[in-house]
Amino acid sequence: MPAFHCPLGAVYYDDEPCIDCGLCQARTAGEMVEASKRMREYIRAHGEKKNRSQKMAVCGKGGTGKSTLTALLADALRREGYTVLVIDSDESNLGLPKLLGLDTPSTPLISLLERFSMGDRKPDASWLEAARISLESIPREFIVSAPRMKFLTVGKIIDPFQGCACQMADLARDFVQKIHLGIKEIMLIDMEAGIESFGRGMERGVDTVLTIVEPSFDSLALAEKIRYMAEGIGISAIHAILNKIPSPEIEEKLRKELENKQMKVAGAVYLDPQISQAGFTGKKLPDNTDAAKLLRKIAAALLSEQV
Ligand SMILES: Nc1ncnc2c1ncn2[C@@H]1O[C@H](COP(=O)(O)OP(=O)(O)O)[C@@H](O)[C@H]1O
Ligand code: SF4
Ligand SMILES: [Mg+2]
Repeated sequence: MPAFHCPLGAVYYDDEPCIDCGLCQARTAGEMVEASKRMREYIRAHGEKKNRSQKMAVCGKGGTGKSTLTALLADALRREGYTVLVIDSDESNLGLPKLLGLDTPSTPLISLLERFSMGDRKPDASWLEAARISLESIPREFIVSAPRMKFLTVGKIIDPFQGCACQMADLARDFVQKIHLGIKEIMLIDMEAGIESFGRGMERGVDTVLTIVEPSFDSLALAEKIRYMAEGIGISAIHAILNKIPSPEIEEKLRKELENKQMKVAGAVYLDPQISQAGFTGKKLPDNTDAAKLLRKIAAALLSEQV
């Protein structure tokens, strides 16, 4: 069986039987659609009981607050005693390390690809060939470490002639699928905006999708699409986190809209000048805001599988 994080845990965990959906074996678009349909039907019927929340992807429309809430959630999980592997998979935006309070640069994963490697030396890629990659086995040059946190960036497109990012996405997908976490270890991926990553199969390696929803028509529509895509690859733990909420009335309306779309809401973060300020100046997010406190509650609920 190829390296694949089975949505039901049938590869790495023996508490759930394989339903023979064919997702891990699918090679053509047709096979994928059929397998996805079988998995979606199974999830609809049994999904509620599976919520492992160890590999999480933070998704949503551009600008909704994915990086901001990824940073706050990472801090919240660290407070719970977890070591968090934060993966920056956004190909363009640079701000996430700053929001996490990190200054040291690390070698991006894409420097393993000829087209993206800088300078003469191409880093050793042999560690990526292992069927499972533990946090300890990732070479230090790819990681920025802080207490109970490891930060890794997939890489940024910095030159107009570097071409399309598909090769980069393939590398990131394989890496995410192979990461094997131990007890008290969690992975959090700050995804690129939109749903392109689903088409590339990036989320096939995760068990939980957090969709950041701001009060806008486009953001709501995308949240529904993300839920559909996530279910299709077997993810049942799909939660919306509302962000940039201007008033209780808007929060109420947004919650209703999401309820109508059968989406669970984990919490609502209000528009906060302290967050804008940190985002603007590239400073670490303060840990005393209402948003930080709320993310701690969400983290605790995710960990105890209550949301
Ligand atoms: N709750 C909030 N209140 C005020 N500003 C926010 C809030 N959440 C995010 N922002 C700001 O919105 C902008 C986009 O946030 P960001 O996390 O970069 O979004 P994304 O990663 O989804 O593109 C940033 O300037 C950030 O500071
Ligand atoms: S993806 Fe489907 S076929 Fe593959 S191990 Fe999981 S349940 Fe079985
Ligand atoms: Mg971002």
